Parts: sequence; structure tokens; C-alpha cells
Amino acid sequence: MCADVLRICTGGQPGEHEFELLNGQLSHVILKNCALLLVFLLSLPLSGMQKIEATDPHSFSNYTQVRTRHLVLDLAVDFTRQQLTGYAEHQLERLDPAIDRLVLDTRNLKVTTVTYSDDGVHWQKAVYLLGIADPLKGQPLTVQLQAKTLSVRVYYQTTPQASGLQWLTADQTSEKKHPFLFSQSQPIHARSWLPVQDTPANRITYQANIRTPRELLAVMSADNSANTERNGQYRFTMAQPVPSYLIALAVGDLHFKAMSAQTGVYAEKLWLDKAVAEFSDTQKMMDAANQLFGQYPWQRYDLLVLPSSFPFGGMENPRLSFVTPTIITGDKSLISLVAHELAHSWSGNLVTNACWNDLWLNEGFTNYVENRIMQEVYGQARADMELLLNVQALREQLQQLSPDDSRLQPDYRFRDPDEAFHQVPYVKGQLLLHTLAQHFGQEQFDRFLRDYFATFAFQSINTKTFVDFFTQKLNIKQSFSAASLEQWLYQPGLTGEVKLPSSDAFSRISVMQQQWLSGKLSINMFPTEQWSVHEWLYFIEQLPRNLTPQQLIELDMAFSLSNSRNAEVFTTWARLVIPLNHQQIIQPLRQFLLSVGRQKFIVPLYTELKANPQWRSWARQVYREARPGYHPLAQQQLDKLAL
Ligand code: BES
Ligand code: ZN
Repeated sequence: MCADVLRICTGGQPGEHEFELLNGQLSHVILKNCALLLVFLLSLPLSGMQKIEATDPHSFSNYTQVRTRHLVLDLAVDFTRQQLTGYAEHQLERLDPAIDRLVLDTRNLKVTTVTYSDDGVHWQKAVYLLGIADPLKGQPLTVQLQAKTLSVRVYYQTTPQASGLQWLTADQTSEKKHPFLFSQSQPIHARSWLPVQDTPANRITYQANIRTPRELLAVMSADNSANTERNGQYRFTMAQPVPSYLIALAVGDLHFKAMSAQTGVYAEKLWLDKAVAEFSDTQKMMDAANQLFGQYPWQRYDLLVLPSSFPFGGMENPRLSFVTPTIITGDKSLISLVAHELAHSWSGNLVTNACWNDLWLNEGFTNYVENRIMQEVYGQARADMELLLNVQALREQLQQLSPDDSRLQPDYRFRDPDEAFHQVPYVKGQLLLHTLAQHFGQEQFDRFLRDYFATFAFQSINTKTFVDFFTQKLNIKQSFSAASLEQWLYQPGLTGEVKLPSSDAFSRISVMQQQWLSGKLSINMFPTEQWSVHEWLYFIEQLPRNLTPQQLIELDMAFSLSNSRNAEVFTTWARLVIPLNHQQIIQPLRQFLLSVGRQKFIVPLYTELKANPQWRSWARQVYREARPGYHPLAQQQLDKLAL
């Protein structure tokens, strides 16, 4: 009888979908109490097969009917088992009183008990079902609610498959003394370490109680304090509502140093002073952004330097951006990444894309805001070079993307939203805003953005909301034609008209490079002592892809590019020379792949290596050795490469 197929359907409206609670096999269901389940099942026809709405295609949750408004986390961090254990308490808002179940997202979680309460004091066991695993979305956790239920507690454990956590052994950290844990929830990995309505459309406040080994410090995307006593018991509050992907936790042998009253750095000892020196302009960036886009709304802004296996450059966790140590170069050459994560404090964290199809609202806006900050703090020339390098990366990417994916608003409904994070939402989005700024004038456009951030503060919105606001507030006279906006937003490729800045520095490099290639200029005549990292990157990227072995050796002799300590320069050079069998790169490349886990670097490097038949098996061996140190997401990406 229990083997009947049970479906709860949404009625098939756009964006809604059907999902199964039971698919005929009880083995798929984690069921704690069969009698209660029976009651639950029997109640279904009585409640008239309630329509459970799941409106975000990447979430099972019915947040438009009943939503978490506040989350209480109580978690113990067990490094021996590499497991989080505890509960997540959801304080609910019942938007539709007729709905008697709460649907949460989970992935690879072990749920042990679920309880519910009307008053937050008296708790009773709840009936719940953990549905069938969907390869993208994970498993819906459906909890039955009583008419007055206002809180639901899910007791659970994480499993080694948690895609949103990386557990590092002491050996894998820079100090090699203590283990380290960090979360990475964007876009849909929060559900792998906490049961939650994992959609950017819903915002929650949260508090957390985190227990760790005594000697370690826990930090979260919340109210960290320089004065926290290191005792293994940490409490956090995030009183401003954030989407689930901004819930973040890190635990390790972390130390803090202030940079200004409002900004500081958390890092392992080895990085702390270097990081403080590298990021010392953070307050200046903040001041610039405050001026341009409105007062910073999150109180403190700290940076957490993660171990080098961190799969991204940075992650904009509110009040505490997580960053890779690969931007600590000693010369502030890569700190636009700090400007980027800081910029998310407005674009993304304050005004959030309501679903991952609208990712450009987060990343395109952020690239624009980042560039404005860079321009204010470091001047027009540097900002222009950075914009031009971005455009170069976009053009390169456009050659590989399908026309559909080159649209600003692609359809990721049935795809992994991790794959949406490519140059199109970032740079095409940035170029749209850049174009609008030129059309309406920089100042007027910045004012418009300030208005936009204030109007939609602490809201999650979609592209249409932006377009309406733009039309109403800025494009009143329709001077920017609706047709060209449509084209930018919905057409493939880079068809809209873009006026790009010119860079004198880049132009000089192009000329010199041509002269060298045609034998008119010796490489030793290049004024490279004055080159910034941006100029180096441009120089390498402009080089023809068919240099001779002699030319490569000549370049390396003159500039030691194969031994560059700057990860951007090194990777750009390595990608050029791997297909050309340049031997000098081998040793440093091995070292790099074994120590850095940032996907932006290692995925293209392994991809080039795979394409070189002479180096492929070498790369396979390096990967075998390096893989245990990579983040689960990077492992997944690289496994797919099938080296
Ligand atoms: N939000 C992203 C990080 C991210 C990327 C999370 C992909 C999930 C999937 C962050 O703000 C970001 O864009 N980081 C970039 C750096 C930036 C300067 C373009 C990165 O990590 O390289
Ligand atoms: Zn970003």
C-alpha cells in the first residue's frame, strides 16, 4: 500500500514543476515513523492534494506559501569525522494558511529527527519525507505542519559528499598544524550543509551557535568581533535578511588584524601581515563606494584569507568576503578582486538576483561597480586596462559558448547554475551598464544606480524589475531605444554598440611587440621595469599562438615568465606555452597545480594539458596527486575533463 506512487503537482504553470515524494519505492524514503507517515499519506486526499508551489527552478522549496524568516543554527564541527552535526531551526511565516507542509532543500544530508512547535518552547516530533534525489537539486525535505506551527527543527548531519564544504587536514593548510573547514554556498550548495529553502528569492536573518575544537576560531557571514574569546564556543547573529547562498562558515587557526576601524583581515598566521599590507586600501575602496552608491549597509567589512585550495577568487559573504591567497602578490596588482567582492555589498547582497537565470544582476552590476571603485581609487588608466582585459576574456569565451548561452538571460532552468558563472553575465553585463553610463553620462548613471540600490535594498529582484525601474527613472524620454535594450538583454553575442576606452599603455605594448616579432627591436629594449601586471597580461595575451621554441626561450630568459609568482601572469603564460611544449614550464607548473585550487586557473591549465598528447599522461599523474587537495567542486569539474 505504501508503494503507491504519490505525486504533488503544481499545475504546470511556467517555472513551476512537478516533483515526486515517493516513487513507489520505500527504500528511497527516509522514514522514521511508519504510523505517522500513514497518517500523513492518508491526510493527502483530505487536504485536496494541495498545490505545493516551487517557483525557483533550482529549488524544491515552497517559499511563496510558507517561508523561513529566521534560522537558528546549532552545529558542532567534528574534524575527526569531517562532519557537522546539530540542528537548523526554521522560524516560519505562513503566507498561505491553507498550506500544511514546508518544503526545504537538502543534498546529501542525513536527517535524523524533525520536530515542530507552535510557541518555540514545546516541541513535538513531526512527520517528514525526504524525497528522491534529483541530480541537480538534491532531495526535497517535506515536513508536515499543524495549523499553528511556527517553527520547525531539523536535526541532521552532513556527509562527506557535501559539495558546499571543504575539510582540510592540517597538512593541507599553510601552517600545517590545525585542520580547516570552509563553506561555499553559492549558488545552490547551502543545501549540502544545512536544510534550507535554498533560493535567492527568499531572505532570512540567522543566528548560529557553533562548537569547534577549543584552539580554533569560527567566523561567519555575520557579526564577527575582533574580541571574540577563543574557546570553541561561538555565537553569531546576522540581523539583516540575506539569501541562503550568503550563509557562510569557516573554522581554522585564524587570527585577526584590523586595517581600519571598519575593516580587517582574518587569516592563518603565515598570511596575516602580508594580507594586511596587500589589502590596506580596503577602507579607501569602501569610502569611494559609499560616495558613489550609498552608505555601506553591513557595518563591518572584513576579509578572510582561505587556504589556497579555495576554488574561487573571492566570495562575497556579507561582512566577511572569503578570498584566495593567490591575490596576495606584494604589489596590490590583483586587488580589484577585493573591490569586486566589496562591490557585491551593494550589487548582489543588498539587491539580489531572485533566481540564477538573472545572475547578471549580481555579477554584471558588480563588475561595473568594481570598475568604478578602481577608477576612483587608482585612476582611470588602471580601470580602463582592467575593463579591456575583461573584454578580451569575454571575447575568448564567446568563441566557445553556444549562442544561447551568450545571452544575458540564458535559460538555466534544467542546468547546473554553477555553469552560469562565465564571462557573459560578468562582462557582457558590465558592458551593458558601461554603455548606459556613456549614454546617460557617468554621474547621472551612478546616481541612478544609487537610487536603484536604495529602492530595492534587501530585496531579490529579476531582470524585468530592473528594466521597469530603468524605464521609469532614467530612460524617461526613451533616448536609449527599447530595441537596443532588448537586444542587449535577450540576444546572443556582443551585438550592441560598445565604445571601449583606449589604453595608451596597451597601445605601446602592441607596437613594441610587433617590432620584436618582426626583428626590429630587441627584447631587452622593452621598458618592462615600469610594466604593471596588467601590461604583462596584455603583452602575453597578445602574443601569437605559434611562437618558435627559440622565441619562448628568449622571452623566458629575459622575463622569467615561467617562474612568475603572480598567479594571473603565470597562468596566462602557461596556457600559451603548454601547447608549444615549452619545457621550462613543467616544474613550476607541477608546483602550481599541486598548491593552487582556484578553478579559474587550474581548469584551463588542465584543459590545455589534456589537449597536448605529449603532456597528457604527465598531467594525469599530477592530477592524481593534487586531487585530494582540491575542493569538491573543483574535483567534480576536473573529473569531467577526463584527463
Ligand atoms: N560570486 C562570485 C564567486 C562565485 C563564482 C561563486 C562562481 C559561485 C560560483 C564572486 O563574486 C566572483 O565573481 N569571484 C570572481 C572574482 C571576480 C573579480 C570576477 C572569482 O572568483 O574569480
Ligand atoms: Zn562576483
